[in-house]
Order: sequence, then structure tokens, then C-alpha cells
Amino acid sequence: MEKKELDGLLKEISSFSASNSSELEEFRIKFLGKKGIIRGLFTKLKDANQKNRKEFGQLINNIKERAESKFAGLNNSLAKSSSREKKNIDLSMPGVSFPNGSRHPISLIRAEMCGILERIGFVISEGPEIESDWHNFTALNIPEYHPARDMQDTFFIQTNPDILLRTHTSPQQIRVMESSDPPIRIICPGRVYRNETISARSHCIFHQIEGLYIDLEVSFADLKQTLYYFAQALFGDNTKIRFRPSYFPFTEPSAEMDISCLICKGNGCSVCKHSGWVEILGCGMVDPAVLDNCNIDSTKYTGYAFGLGIERPAMLKYQIDDIRLFFENDRRFLDQFKTTL
Ligand code: PHE
Repeated sequence: MEKKELDGLLKEISSFSASNSSELEEFRIKFLGKKGIIRGLFTKLKDANQKNRKEFGQLINNIKERAESKFAGLNNSLAKSSSREKKNIDLSMPGVSFPNGSRHPISLIRAEMCGILERIGFVISEGPEIESDWHNFTALNIPEYHPARDMQDTFFIQTNPDILLRTHTSPQQIRVMESSDPPIRIICPGRVYRNETISARSHCIFHQIEGLYIDLEVSFADLKQTLYYFAQALFGDNTKIRFRPSYFPFTEPSAEMDISCLICKGNGCSVCKHSGWVEILGCGMVDPAVLDNCNIDSTKYTGYAFGLGIERPAMLKYQIDDIRLFFENDRRFLDQFKTTL
């Protein structure tokens, strides 16, 4: 046995590579097999003289380890590439596409409504959904035993009835009036809560947008013209509006506004209960008592306010007949608004 011969084997092992499993098997038999080279070397070692035995022993062990790890490495990479071949992966294929989300119909129409009003100078102002009795009721001229509180079935916090879920977005108007001087021209969009039985027409959670304009000499004519512009921009140029006298504790005089039915164009259908008109908002001139509550001089300033739900106009615009669909997150419903991103 010569050292040169052993070095040669080591080199041969290091430089070996196999392109398929039968080449690798040949390698295994040649070096690691029962009758292979390495076994043979160990047998020869017995005959080597005492002096060389230790050195040769180490060398042969080294050869054996190299051959084993070479075999394991090649075996592994061949197995991997053959499983890829088996799955028949075509790396030039396009990837799996993930469906895009879309904006919720309520967000879409809310953005549209805000955009229309922002164009004529209204500024968005958002406030908390958990409110105090003062902001939600008392400052709005709805004192504790006022019957109008019954108009708005409220979710109170049981341990502290001074804290509640806002029943409308008007409390944000109070917050702005308390903290800034006229002129004020804001819109307050947001989610509101009322303790109502859930049905196709009403829900305990819904959304509103309220508008408020306070300045010198603001009149009902300004209110009317603003709402006329708003209704036509949102629902189309042919939309007609009409006002009916109404009552809200925070406005005087108060009115409700109807638009001509979008479905039947005013001819009468089941949506407008055959009247040709659909009610969409409440409005009026801000009651001087509300201005006084917010330290705004009611002898100097006047203002108008209006408020409307977002769901009802959305239902009309997109012809949706059940309000619950907005809150169920059913993909089949939501996916229909994809193109309007
Ligand atoms: N806040 C009223 C409501 O929720 C709507 C409204 C706002 C009416 C402003 C008149 C003026 O019912």
C-alpha cells in the first residue's frame, strides 16, 4: 500500500459527480460496497507493517468518510430533482393570482357624498362613537325627560348612563361648535347605533352624514339650494326634491326632504310605496338654544344643519333590497362592487 495510491483515491472521490442514480450506484458499489475498494484497503491494512499502520489507518478512515458524505450529498440532490421532474413543474407558468379586495359599498357612497360636499367648501370632521349624554342629547336641546329621546332608542352603558353609543353624528357638531368660532362649515360622517330590531329595512348599526353651516345671515334658502345641488350630484340631474315640515329638537323650523323615486322615476312603485317620493334626510335651521349651549352668539349668527343615513341612499342607488347585506360580509355581495374601485 502506498500513500500516493491513497491520495489518488481521495481526489477521485472529491471530484466525482453523478448525473443520474445509476452512476451514483456504481460509485457506491465501487467504494463502499462489500467488495469495494475501502473494504479491501482495511483488509490490506492488517498486513501493513507496524510503522505505517497508524498513518494509513487514518488515511483510509478519511477516504471512507469522504466517500460516505459524497454519496449522501449526491443522493439527496438527485432525489430532489427527480421529485421536481415527477411533479412536472413548469417554471414559466404564471403564478397563482390572489383576488383583489374592493371597497365596501358604504365606503364608496360615503366617499362620493363627502366629495360632493367638499367641493362646495364643507370640511370633514370625525368624532368618537362612544359619547357623553351632553354631546348626544342635552346640548342638542334634548333634556333628560324630553319625549324626543324616545325617537332614538339608545344603547347606554349600564353602570354609567352618562356614557352611550352615539345615536347620530350630531354630537360631533356640538364638539366643533364648542371648540371653534363661526364661520363653521363641516360634514360629520360616521357610524351610529340604535337599539332597534334588525330587519330588511333597519339595523342597530348604520352610518350617517350630517352637515352644519353657521355664519352671518345663513337662511333656509341656502339650506334648500345646498341640498338641491347635493341630491342632483348624487342621484342625477333629473332628481326632484321636496320638503315636508317636521320636528327635531335641535332645529327650528325643521323639515324632512324627499327625492323623486329613482326606481320608478316618480311614477310610483313598491320602493316608494306608490307615492313617487322617497324620504332621505332631516334638516332645519339650528335652534338658537343649541348655539347658546355652545357659546355661539345666537343674536348674531344663524345656521342650518342636515343629516342623512348612508345605507338608504346606497340601497336606492345600487338597488339593494335588504340592509343586512351591508354587514354580513358575503363575498358574493361585496365582489359586485369591484369595478367601482
Ligand atoms: N340628527 C338627526 C337624526 O339622526 C338628523 C338631523 C340632523 C336632523 C340635522 C336635522 C338636522 O335623526
